[in-house]
Amino acid sequence: MPKGKEFWSRDFARRYGHASLVADKDKYLCASEAPKHRFNVIGTGTMGQEHIRVTNFEGRATINGVYDPEPLSVENAKTAHAVHSDEPLQSYASIEEACEDPDVDGLIICTPNFTHIDAVRTAARSGKHILIEKPVATTIPDAWEIAQMADAHAGIFQVGLQYRYKAIYTEAIHEVLERKTLGDIKTISMAEHRMPFLDKVGQWNKYGRYSGGTLVEKCCHYFDLINLFARSRPTRVFASGSMAVNFREFDHEEGKADILDNAMVIIEYENGIRGHFGLVMFAPMFYEEVVICGDTGRLRAYENMDFLPGDTLKSGLEIYGGETCPSRMTTPSYPQAIEESGHNGATFFEHVHFVDDIEKGSCTGPTPVDAFWSVVVGAAAEKSAASGEVIEIDGLLKENGLDQV
Ligand SMILES: NC(=O)c1ccc[n+]([C@@H]2O[C@H](COP(=O)([O-])OP(=O)(O)OC[C@H]3O[C@@H](n4cnc5c(N)ncnc54)[C@H](O)[C@@H]3O)[C@@H](O)[C@H]2O)c1
Repeated sequence: MPKGKEFWSRDFARRYGHASLVADKDKYLCASEAPKHRFNVIGTGTMGQEHIRVTNFEGRATINGVYDPEPLSVENAKTAHAVHSDEPLQSYASIEEACEDPDVDGLIICTPNFTHIDAVRTAARSGKHILIEKPVATTIPDAWEIAQMADAHAGIFQVGLQYRYKAIYTEAIHEVLERKTLGDIKTISMAEHRMPFLDKVGQWNKYGRYSGGTLVEKCCHYFDLINLFARSRPTRVFASGSMAVNFREFDHEEGKADILDNAMVIIEYENGIRGHFGLVMFAPMFYEEVVICGDTGRLRAYENMDFLPGDTLKSGLEIYGGETCPSRMTTPSYPQAIEESGHNGATFFEHVHFVDDIEKGSCTGPTPVDAFWSVVVGAAAEKSAASGEVIEIDGLLKENGLDQV
């Protein structure tokens, strides 16, 4: 993160709209440098447009061009780009052209989940820096193949598990893993209660064969966080879930929807930590929380958007330290413009990390290996919910041809 004068001048003042108050010749605090990096975006639906907006807003890179076979998505991308940039947005005729353009040093892949594996096979050949959306793939073998490609890749290879950068989780990670406020962690519970899945181009997210299933598609974010807090290998997963409310009547070009809208998942780790995740996708709000208990304290962090009038807290982090340390109640947050740029500021800090890593030449993650393990837990949970069985992770890896992982 830029510090001192550089932070206030190049980034903060420009982002808060003061740059237009004086002529260029008089700018010092608001002077901005030309972007050093140029990215192409592959797939410009909801998330591609968020990446275009955030790339320009962060400021050290700009968007050179896009590839998307859907003309409306390309038009929307041009509109999103024009808000921040006077430069025209190039539209490529193929993914190969977009990946091989020598004017570009980074590729952001935001296509539907089932297309990630082919997109990465093409993108990796370019050697350019890659930011690919989550889940990295819909199956365990594809996620592993991508982790292997990333291992051999010269450029930065980051996966869009950007919930790690939400203010509440950034603070929770600091307390639990760095400051060790809770002592030895024993249990990690996470929950998400939200609206149904939104409409997508072609409605790919209503079908397990295209998305990987709800517990891979959406919940990989939470499994990544639980894995991160546990700092251990998952050994067993048990899940129960159903399609209780949403999309029961949904019948699109591809047929009837087949995705879970609620689930309870239990994860056991090699080091004895137990994880739990509860999902409800028919709640009139967006609410998520983590509760972590260690042998010396308890932490709860939450984010809430309930659409009600009045000043309800939209985030919180509580630490109860008993007699071991001060207890605290805080409201972690970022500046409003950053929070509003996407996913409560998480996407902005994902880009800060991506560009920092490009400039330093080292990959701080989330890595494709982190992403692989989030897919493994999600796929195990999907399998357990479908079969009613406890899934042994070693056995699941073997079934998928991965004896040595
Ligand atoms: N990190 C997050 O918080 C987050 C949030 C939402 C979505 N996502 C992920 O982002 C990805 C895209 O999701 P979305 O919500 O933008 O979906 P979307 O349906 O809105 O957009 C997908 C776009 O990809 C295009 N596309 C399809 N196949 C393509 C191909 N082979 N090459 C190029 N473009 C192609 C479609 O035409 C569409 O415009 C998914 O992997 C999804 O899981 C991540």
